[in-house]
Parts: sequence; C-alpha cells; structure tokens
Amino acid sequence: MNEPGHVLVVGASRGIGLELVRQYARDGWTVHATTRGEEPGDLGEIDGAVQLHRLDVRNDGQVSSLVEALPQRGLDVVIHNAGIYRGHTRDELMEVNAEGPIRVVQSLIAGGRMADNGSVVLMTSRMGSRRGRTDILGDYGDSKAALNDEFRLRAPAWELAGVIAVVMHPGWVRTDMGGSGATLSVEESATGIRRVIAGMSSADHGRFYNWDGSEQPW
Ligand SMILES: NC(=O)c1ccc[n+]([C@@H]2O[C@H](COP(=O)([O-])OP(=O)(O)OC[C@H]3O[C@@H](n4cnc5c(N)ncnc54)[C@H](OP(=O)(O)O)[C@@H]3O)[C@@H](O)[C@H]2O)c1
Repeated sequence: MNEPGHVLVVGASRGIGLELVRQYARDGWTVHATTRGEEPGDLGEIDGAVQLHRLDVRNDGQVSSLVEALPQRGLDVVIHNAGIYRGHTRDELMEVNAEGPIRVVQSLIAGGRMADNGSVVLMTSRMGSRRGRTDILGDYGDSKAALNDEFRLRAPAWELAGVIAVVMHPGWVRTDMGGSGATLSVEESATGIRRVIAGMSSADHGRFYNWDGSEQPW
C-alpha cells in the first residue's frame, strides 16, 4: 500500500527499526513503535505521529497489552524487526528470533488488529537459508531457519485471515548487529524494505525476499 496508514515496527529503538520509524513518520504514516526500555531514546527525536509501546517480545503480558493498545482492524503494515545475534545462548536466540515474531504476529491476527490485506514482514536473515549450504548454520542461522520454517507452517492460516505476509533479509547493514564493515546503510536498507512492502500483493504471500525485492531461496 502506498498511501500513508498505520504501521507497527517491533524493535524500533535502534538500527533498521529506528530508521523504518523515521521514514514512515516523515512520509505521514501513523507509526506504532516498540522499545524494551522505558526511555524513548532516539525515537523521542523523531517528528511526526509516533506512538511508543513497551515490548519485550518474550513477554506474553506485554504482547497482550500491545494488542489491546492498537486500533481494531487498524494495522496496514507490521514489521517485526526485533532480533539478536552475538553474545546470546541458543535458547535466547530461539526465543527472540524464532518464537518472538510468531508470537507477536499471531496475537495481532487473533486479536483482529490487522487491516484487510494488511502486510506483515518478519525480519529474518540469509544466514537462515539452507540452500547451497554445506557448513552448519550456527545458532543464529538456526534460529532464523526455525523462524522461516514456522512461518511456512503458519502461512496458509494467515492467508485465510486476510494477511499478506513475507519473511525478509534486510541486507548486510551497518548497525550494532551488522557492524561498520557492512555493505548497506540503514537508509538504503529501510528504503528498500519499504519499497518491497509498498508493492506487495496477495501473490507475494508466503515468500522469502531480500531488501531489494529479489527472491531468496529457502
Ligand atoms: N544488520 C544486519 O546486517 C542484519 C542482517 C540480517 C538480518 N538482520 C536482522 O534484521 C533485524 C534488525 O537488525 P539490526 O541490525 O537493526 O539490529 P540491532 O541494531 O541490533 O537492533 C535490534 C533491535 O531489536 C530489539 N530487540 C532485541 N531483542 C528484543 C526483544 N527481546 N524484544 C524486543 N525487542 C528486541 C533491540 O532493542 P534493544 O535496543 O532494547 O536491545 C533493537 O531495537 C534483526 O531481526 C536482525 O536479525 C540484520
């Protein structure tokens, strides 16, 4: 969808999520942005219609409160961007990267918060793609592969619920996670992600895309 509407960005305190909030707010969208901390941080500097919500994706109570706070049938776009990489146990990676996005999106759908034909993007990684890999994926790659697998299992039900959902690799991006040697700026990645979302139709449901719109093998 190209007209400004309501977008939810989960994991918006920094990195790609923060830039997505900046760009959508600049373009006149109403942005619901989640952070784990109590302080708005850099989100507090953004002009426009930005509403902050407190959310750790592992916290069921906070997920329920978020759903309650959002408009009925109101979300045109949901981007589940929150994720972790280094310095975490395998269990933590699974909980945040694989279970978190499914928990949040399933709750939004069951709670009737998605607009008809609303778009959902679950941020995954190419490191979760098994295609052509002969080495092991590692704990992070495994967590994103588990997300992709669960997404494919849920996709038929989500389609029946009237949602257009994809998983997406944001590129290798210069953030705390991606590091300073990465190829893309947050502006380039977020611009690409938004362009893909704006062009999404029901034919895209259930697919795995890169930030530039190319399809990523599973
Ligand atoms: N950067 C890359 O090159 C790259 C490549 C492939 C995939 N990705 C994926 O793209 C997404 C964004 O990456 P990024 O580079 O922007 O990462 P980042 O700079 O490390 O930011 C991660 C964001 O996720 C939030 N978050 C982490 N754990 C959370 C939790 N339990 N509940 C709620 N929010 C949580 C963080 O909040 P706090 O500030 O509270 O920690 C932060 O806002 C991630 O899913 C990542 O796996 C990134």
